[in-house]
Amino acid sequence: MARVVTAAKGHAIRGPAIGFRGDPFLLPPDQALWYEPDAVVAIRDERIPDVGPAAQVLARLPPATPVVRYPRALILSGFIDCHVHYPQLGIVGAAGHPLLDWLERYTFPAEAAFADPAHAGRVAAVFLDQLRRNGTTTAAVYGTVHPQSVDALFDAALPTGLRIFAGKALMDRNAPPALLDTAQRGYDESKALIARWHGRGRLHHALTLRFVATSTPAQLEATAALWREHPGMLLQSHLAENAAELAWVHELFPEASDYTDVFDRFGLLGAGAVFGHGIHLSPAERERLAASGAAIAHCPTSNLMLGSGLFDLAATRSAGVMVGLATDVGAGTTLSMLATMGAAMLVARLRGASLHPAQALWLATAGAARTLGLGAVTGNLAPGLDADLVVIDPASTPLLAERMTTVTGIDDVLTALMTLGDDRNVVATYAGGRRVFG
Ligand code: GUN
Ligand code: ZN
Repeated sequence: MARVVTAAKGHAIRGPAIGFRGDPFLLPPDQALWYEPDAVVAIRDERIPDVGPAAQVLARLPPATPVVRYPRALILSGFIDCHVHYPQLGIVGAAGHPLLDWLERYTFPAEAAFADPAHAGRVAAVFLDQLRRNGTTTAAVYGTVHPQSVDALFDAALPTGLRIFAGKALMDRNAPPALLDTAQRGYDESKALIARWHGRGRLHHALTLRFVATSTPAQLEATAALWREHPGMLLQSHLAENAAELAWVHELFPEASDYTDVFDRFGLLGAGAVFGHGIHLSPAERERLAASGAAIAHCPTSNLMLGSGLFDLAATRSAGVMVGLATDVGAGTTLSMLATMGAAMLVARLRGASLHPAQALWLATAGAARTLGLGAVTGNLAPGLDADLVVIDPASTPLLAERMTTVTGIDDVLTALMTLGDDRNVVATYAGGRRVFG
């Protein structure tokens, strides 16, 4: 496990850096991107007090501030994974089945093992190590139905400084008995997790409704009550992922006009709700999500692996819905947000659209931060934001080194990284100002 290094009072890192001046879906992407070939990012306590061209920032730094140089790297805001299941680490790459079969064959048996806290603790440690290695400094994570799966994750995450949102999966029907709670138990166990963990260090509880097909109306009501009792808390679930799932949800909730309406009817739609997938949504549903302030986690590798469909990013964004990028491991095939950005580009191509590399990077940083309600906290290189940073070597493999000899500009560098990159590119990761990897 990487050693966690405590930040000195005031230090800085220097090298080429990329951030955002604005949203690359609203501005021309090249104007929205901020690229400085010789930048300094100052770090004091948890934050970035100053960032900009080295010549300017060095002159403003307190004398004798230590500066670590990364002259051949790229400094970016740490990546944000908006939707990932840590208990599914053991089934990554279990392929060849659509969602509902995949859940029964692989997912539920794998999750049953998390009744054992020792197993949960071991997998949590591997998962958190992978986040750091991949430059992911914030993640919204699903536990299993067992509250001990969340205790194990938070226990392991507390000393790392990573920002983790997590909750126990609320599920009280349509799954094996070993994975079911009840409306009351799910409420009580979530409440106890909130009391134990919410707001400790960089840990946040997230109400975690697996999907409406595995919850009774009583559980949806109990979850809405908990959400009302905790304003501002994240609520995560799955929405409109797969055609068979849609038909099943319609059978289970015949009174609802569509999938989104199920959440709305139970008081589960609003700011702070983050729904994985959102592939099979009508224009009216996108409007409703946008009006409520709910967000979508785009999970491109998962959607390809399960054959769920091609997410319409352009329609979702232009309806005004916030979108962040996510790995959705174990249906997703990688914990690398670089690789996930590459997959989002390919999915856009299959829809006949183009995703500019600045837009892909936005979805994994600043856009993802907004999706999780962290727009004023992290996701960019800007004074006042948390010092969540990743340092990328763009030539970490022989193939990338060769590719870097032909790149024509920073857009090209980013596209090559998203196409060929993974954890091998990550030189260092800083979470809340502390170096947690590298
Ligand atoms: N829908 C309900 N549960 C899951 C899950 O674990 N993964 C995915 N991709 N979709 C789901
Ligand atoms: Zn998921």
